[in-house]
Amino acid sequence: MFSASELFSVKGRVALVTGGGTGLGRVAAEALLSAGARVFIASRKAEVCEAAAKELSAIGPCEGFGGTVQSEAGVAALAAEVRARTGELHILVNNAGVSWGEPYEAYPWKAFDRVLAVNVTGLFQLTREMTPLLKKAASVDRPATVINIGSVMGSVTQAENAYAYSASKAAVHHLTRILAAELAGAQVTVNAIAPGPFPSNMTKFAIGSEEGRAHASGAVPMGRVGRPDDLAGTMLYLTGRAGAYTTGAIVPLDGGLHCAAAPPMFAAGH
Ligand SMILES: NC(=O)c1ccc[n+]([C@@H]2O[C@H](COP(=O)([O-])OP(=O)(O)OC[C@H]3O[C@@H](n4cnc5c(N)ncnc54)[C@H](OP(=O)(O)O)[C@@H]3O)[C@@H](O)[C@H]2O)c1
Repeated sequence: MFSASELFSVKGRVALVTGGGTGLGRVAAEALLSAGARVFIASRKAEVCEAAAKELSAIGPCEGFGGTVQSEAGVAALAAEVRARTGELHILVNNAGVSWGEPYEAYPWKAFDRVLAVNVTGLFQLTREMTPLLKKAASVDRPATVINIGSVMGSVTQAENAYAYSASKAAVHHLTRILAAELAGAQVTVNAIAPGPFPSNMTKFAIGSEEGRAHASGAVPMGRVGRPDDLAGTMLYLTGRAGAYTTGAIVPLDGGLHCAAAPPMFAAGH
């Protein structure tokens, strides 16, 4: 007999969500808390994470603190902070991310560097730093798990002026498969979620208005932008017992955007 609630439970698991004070990271933190985990959330703005953790503590044990994945010293300090709070980590959600949009002709070197540093180098180095704690928490019966937040922009050839962002998310998807192979023997699964458009600070410029949201919805085959429960369900599948045998997957969460058909090639009736 299967128990649906046990398959999707993360009771007693310890999780770190980077960028967990806002947007998709906050939804991920809330989902994990609602299914029984103890959750750390960290990003550059300590006060945002502390305030979010205070609110989320109504659901379950949540701690917020400052930390950056943008530099070697930042990742080392963040990892040390996590080690000071726990001896094992069952779930790492690499959600922190930044973007930069500018026309092709003027796209700045500095912006490209910064986006790759946060979205790719920081994600890789934090995972590497956390690996001993993940291995300690892992077992054949119940693996530890890393979730990387990729993007549909890393799967389709669409930059919309966010050249570095799209390239960084493609790198996140590929790193996910590489790390899955690296860590499978240690019973640590590594998967990515590749969201389409979800309302957040990052997408406020485009889908913050009703008009913008309607425009984006029109581009999505299923005709709408993402909802918090879309992400929460995917998070709990991958982090619960339900996802224990899944690793190296790039899970689309985009209403069909990544597999939208190209415009018709042949004239009707031929
Ligand atoms: N919204 C979408 O439509 C969408 C679609 C596909 C993928 N995503 C991905 O989802 C993730 C979350 O983005 P979001 O949409 O929820 O936007 P968001 O609210 O702007 O979230 C980004 C988070 O990353 C944190 N962050 C940025 N730089 C950081 C750094 N150097 N170190 C640690 N944390 C850092 C931010 O907190 P601080 O400013 O306090 O550092 C913030 O909490 C990103 O990886 C994004 O690429 C979003």
